[in-house]
Amino acid sequence: MWPDYRLINLFDIELPIIQAPMAGSAFSYLAVAVSEAGGLGSLACALLSVEQTRKELESIRRKTSHPINVNFFCHQQPSNDPARESIWRRRLDAYYIQLGVDANALVPTSTRAAFDDKMCDLVMEFHPEVVSFHFGLPDKNLLQRVRRAGAKIISSATSVDEACWLQDQGCDAIVAQGYEAGGHRGMFLTQEVSTQLGTMALVPQVVDAVKVPVIAAGGIADARGIAAAFALGAAGVLIGTAYMLCPEARISPLYRQALKDAKDNETAITNVFTGRPARGIVNRLMREVGPMSDVVPEFPLAAAALAPLRAKSESAGSGDFTPMWSGQAARLNRELPAAELTKQLAAETLEKLRLLGTNASPDVFAQAAALAAPSPATEDLSIPFPRTSEKRSRGPSG
Ligand SMILES: Cc1cc2nc3c(=O)[nH]c(=O)nc-3n(C[C@H](O)[C@H](O)[C@H](O)COP(=O)(O)O)c2cc1C
Repeated sequence: MWPDYRLINLFDIELPIIQAPMAGSAFSYLAVAVSEAGGLGSLACALLSVEQTRKELESIRRKTSHPINVNFFCHQQPSNDPARESIWRRRLDAYYIQLGVDANALVPTSTRAAFDDKMCDLVMEFHPEVVSFHFGLPDKNLLQRVRRAGAKIISSATSVDEACWLQDQGCDAIVAQGYEAGGHRGMFLTQEVSTQLGTMALVPQVVDAVKVPVIAAGGIADARGIAAAFALGAAGVLIGTAYMLCPEARISPLYRQALKDAKDNETAITNVFTGRPARGIVNRLMREVGPMSDVVPEFPLAAAALAPLRAKSESAGSGDFTPMWSGQAARLNRELPAAELTKQLAAETLEKLRLLGTNASPDVFAQAAALAAPSPATEDLSIPFPRTSEKRSRGPSG
């Protein structure tokens, strides 16, 4: 028995576990495996062309009849800023010289595109059961079309204000994405990362502020994390990094190895790869140019100037210029097929919840009742604030 069935019922799934959309790393194979196992698999489309997205959706619909989530970025596309671009390229000049690459070489690379009419046409055609957005929501017309296609709509919030805004715009559920999360922060009312909340603090405050189901995300990688999310009031979890070692995740051997080696304190939030803050495994570019830089072009334009550096260093087996997004809990990852991982996470969580219930000794209920009972009137126990002279007499303070 799950402590909360709102998400399961809303999405018509069997397990309250969503595989996070992960642009560039998670495609139809991973999504199908998770959905077939009873969770909700996600296809991230931000780095896919319309044609690639169509192929992935065709493949998903061929392989599973279970519900699926299709995910899009919805940032405002910035206009080119040649002055800023040139400052950014100058900042990278030493690397172009050191690696012997032409700074202006045209390296085939995908840019992160925002949800638009053409992608919306695909939503109308393939009718995904859930559509999720990152960086807020698209404009009202697009959103209405998605709704008319019959999809449940969700998006990420990194604060109570963002969660309330998303609820007001009609989101069916909200992902509360904590600081621990891998990849881009879904933040859209601010870009200030220094005040971003951790999952433990964010989830219950969002739960208190909205009526729709809340999905906890960020640093959740095993039964302990999932059980904790329920205790915080979430109706389910969205898990990214923990799926990255599944054979179905499409990542380079270099990235896979970095994830296997990553220790708890080896990720940081950086804007140097794209222009927006995202959490990844610390590497040379992050160390030397960031992790946060104020000369980086606006999202997603920063990536273009890095493309030749990334290509050259990857061909030499180095991840110095590669974004390797990861949450803070990579160390908990298990290398298992995605369906097996999903089922194990669910089974272990149910067992964890059962143990948490039964391990409490039988008199726990009596204890809880005693604690909840109104206490008899007590004398005033508050400690008076010390007068200045008293404070001084206590000697130097820490
Ligand atoms: C490699 C990677 C790529 C990501 N790409 C996306 C994306 O395309 N869309 C999105 O909504 N979230 C994206 N995210 C963020 C996840 O949706 C989610 O918030 C995060 O993975 C949760 O934290 P965790 O990685 O600690 O589980 C990405 C995360 C990772 C690790």
